Amino acid sequence: MTHTWYKDAVFYELYVRAFRDSNGDGNGDLKGLIAKLDYLQELGVDCIWLLPICPSPLFDDGYDVADYYDIHKDFGTLADFKTLVEGVHARGMRIIIDVVVNHTSDEHPWFIESRSSTTAPKRDWYVWSKTNKRYEDARIIFLDTEKSNWAYDELTGEYYWHRFYSQQPDLNYDNPAVREEMLRIVDFWMELGIDGFRVDAVPYLIEREGTNCENLPETHDYVKQLRAHMNTKWPGRILLAEANQWPHDVRAYFGDDDEFHMAFHFPIMPRLFMALKQASRQSIVDILARTPDIPALTQWCIFLRNHDELTLEMVTEDERQFMWAEYAPEPRMRQNLGIRRRLAPLLDNDERRIRLLNAMLFSLPGSPIIYYGDEIGMGDNIWLDDRNGVRTPLQWDNTKNAGFSEADATYEPVIDTDEFSYQRVNVEQQRANPVSLWHFTRKILALRKQYRAFGRGTFEFVLPDNEGVLGYWRVYQDDTTGQTERFLVLINLTNQAQQVTLDLAAWAGVEPVDALTGNAWPVISDGPSAFELAPYAFHWLRLD
Ligand code: NOJ
Repeated sequence: MTHTWYKDAVFYELYVRAFRDSNGDGNGDLKGLIAKLDYLQELGVDCIWLLPICPSPLFDDGYDVADYYDIHKDFGTLADFKTLVEGVHARGMRIIIDVVVNHTSDEHPWFIESRSSTTAPKRDWYVWSKTNKRYEDARIIFLDTEKSNWAYDELTGEYYWHRFYSQQPDLNYDNPAVREEMLRIVDFWMELGIDGFRVDAVPYLIEREGTNCENLPETHDYVKQLRAHMNTKWPGRILLAEANQWPHDVRAYFGDDDEFHMAFHFPIMPRLFMALKQASRQSIVDILARTPDIPALTQWCIFLRNHDELTLEMVTEDERQFMWAEYAPEPRMRQNLGIRRRLAPLLDNDERRIRLLNAMLFSLPGSPIIYYGDEIGMGDNIWLDDRNGVRTPLQWDNTKNAGFSEADATYEPVIDTDEFSYQRVNVEQQRANPVSLWHFTRKILALRKQYRAFGRGTFEFVLPDNEGVLGYWRVYQDDTTGQTERFLVLINLTNQAQQVTLDLAAWAGVEPVDALTGNAWPVISDGPSAFELAPYAFHWLRLD
């Protein structure tokens, strides 16, 4: 159980730059985060995930690393980082950080050396070519800005390969020196006491002609090497895969319990939003039916929003058009194949729907991740470029800069207009209000953690005739005590009251109790059970 802590954990993703500025320079920093650890503990978070913190030009907010062995000067020092890790652990929490394995910044000294001449010792650390006609079956990911995965470098008259911005040249994983160096980087951060890594952009490590250059067997070979290294040197610490792929392709990244411990389930996320708009559970049922079983020691990570656009890569063209039309009516809301908006604005700031999606996030298979600010329903700023509009400062209170910073100018402006302005939406005010979204989030989080059923239990659909209602069983049997936790989760995806009739005769005589409210429901009879669910209602009924 302790080595599989991640199965029961609730994660919280945060951008250090956006969290709390301790020195008044307008950027959040590690000391600011340290000062706010009590907040995360109070919310009930088990594990925090930090977006990249290494030195970087921040062209891609740190996913363009210029030095893997230090902290970005705006964020603090390695000594601050050690204090942070101690502070996290002292509060019974854990911490994972991003490791950007696929590429570096073009300002990284390795790349500067690599591009300096065709015979430079580090030339082979990156993927160079005399022509830009290789690997033509690889798609372009940053469609809005990149025209090719090759960039011409005038210095040597050759092209280098990049799956993301051209400022992010891909490392060459056919080079054993690169593989070794990445393991050294892993050890460096592990020695600082962290509990794992979110491994960025996993599918793209290796390129091969005639393939789409994603999920190649050689990539899995390297992941296996990385996992074996972790098992030997750092047991109990985790690797979480960022592989935005279809479920069967992600399944391969769990291997035989010999690759990743965890992986994001990307395709389910847009379907939660789709199901709400369509007032139908069908898209959720379909994607979970397409999701293979995973090995005993592994776990999905599920989320509603993160620091990127709400990705629509893992949907059909029709579904993408539907999602754009419904959730991104203005062109500025779209980016690449996605939607650059936050949770609350996506749901028209309708707390019923925000709570409903959270009730699914916290009870579907996998460990949930909360994106900073979504616990108070923060808004976004679509007038900022790239994904910056969903990375604005956390709104702590209604004082200057939302209590985030004393500076006159912050790295991005605080949201200060209309219904999402920090005067209206902030932590302090919601903590003081017992019926706020913040209190709801804290409560549902605590409730989930009282049980093993959600993190470790089996999952089975309950599909009444009524398509607007999603139901599922989450059941956990404790083999040592023989005790069973049995939940029937019922979700009304529609804005109307819905009738459902279920066959629960096997539990005749049991009085279901809604774990979320403590309310008892009528004792189950041996005939059909008929319920009426209020609009957007959700129930976690205990039936054991
Ligand atoms: C995925 C990260 O989530 C995203 O923010 C980044 O731009 C790309 N990987 C490239 O590192």
